[in-house]
Amino acid sequence: MNEDDTCLETYKHFFARDLLRNKVAFITGGGSGICFRIAEIFMRHQCNVVIASRKLERVESAAKKLRDATGQRCLAVQLDVRNPTDVNVAIEKAIKEFGKIDILVNGAAGNFLCPASNLTANGFKTVISIDTLGTFNVSKAIYDKWMMEHGGTIINITATLHYTGVPMQMHAGAAKAAIEAMSRHLAVEWGPNIRINCIAPGPIERTEGFRRLGGASAVKDAYQETIPLQRFGTREEIANACLYFASDVSSYTTGATLVVDGGSWMTSGTPMKTFSKL
Ligand code: COA
Ligand code: NAP
Repeated sequence: MNEDDTCLETYKHFFARDLLRNKVAFITGGGSGICFRIAEIFMRHQCNVVIASRKLERVESAAKKLRDATGQRCLAVQLDVRNPTDVNVAIEKAIKEFGKIDILVNGAAGNFLCPASNLTANGFKTVISIDTLGTFNVSKAIYDKWMMEHGGTIINITATLHYTGVPMQMHAGAAKAAIEAMSRHLAVEWGPNIRINCIAPGPIERTEGFRRLGGASAVKDAYQETIPLQRFGTREEIANACLYFASDVSSYTTGATLVVDGGSWMTSGTPMKTFSKL
């Protein structure tokens, strides 16, 4: 596991500590990065959590850290979101353990930098299969096995890549755009008891996504200057935003996307500090 995937030493509760009391969340990709922190912050609000990804060792080690830090229950399950059989088995295990699933966070994703001119059909298909089809597979299975009858809330983690057509990201932008469209369709079809919303993170430091997309390179300082809030985001800021959609605070919101990016998509490529001196 990456050394960044550790629990917080201190956490300030902006919402009530019992915001998610007796709730159960199923979080794909919860063994690392942004979704590890979403699991932690949900648990710090008294939620019990299932974290799921391909590497069982990774989710088991993460689950132990999460249980130790929060005192809540956390179950680790193996699944490849591309494989409906895996998904069904994992969801059955989760329901057997906790009796229900109130909240789903679709965070599993795959990405790499690649110009469209070099991308193979299988490279494109792989990212679409993990992000878009994976989000559908897990949402549909949880809908069938629990939410259709009992209701719930689904949060899909997208991105802002497709808002401006970020280069070398056609595959990921297309995958995330499709998830945002899917969320609106499902919000219409699956109301009134199920709400489906998206969180679109900007550049979030100390994550695999950030490292893969050049965050650690020389581009970093120049890029930071282009962001209206003049800094990169934290995993905690994404997790806190997820609390809003996970809880009844957002009870009249469905089919929405909350952008949590310091305003960066609006100024992408604009040197803010230079401009502010003019
Ligand atoms: N550039 C271009 N194409 C790439 C690539 C890269 N950096 N990495 C993988 N691909 C292509 C492969 O060449 C292959 O296509 P091909 O058969 O035509 O050659 C296709 O993608 C599948 O690669 P494979 O390694 O078999 O996929 P996988 O299913 O084992 O892994 C990935 C999926 C590639 C997305 C892998 O990076 C992954 O597991 N990522 C998870 C973590 C992550 O991306 N985190 C950031 C989230 S924002
Ligand atoms: P990360 O740590 O690499 O998270 C991706 C997770 O998905 C991993 O835990 C991985 O675990 C899991 N995963 C990948 N393929 C899977 C599959 N086929 N089946 C099941 N699980 C799979 O990266 P991150 O940067 O925190 O990204 C988390 C989410 O935020 C992603 O949706 C990403 O697109 C989004 N996002 C991130 C940023 C950023 O700046 N980091 C910006 C915008 C959006 P396994 O390897 O064990 O399967």
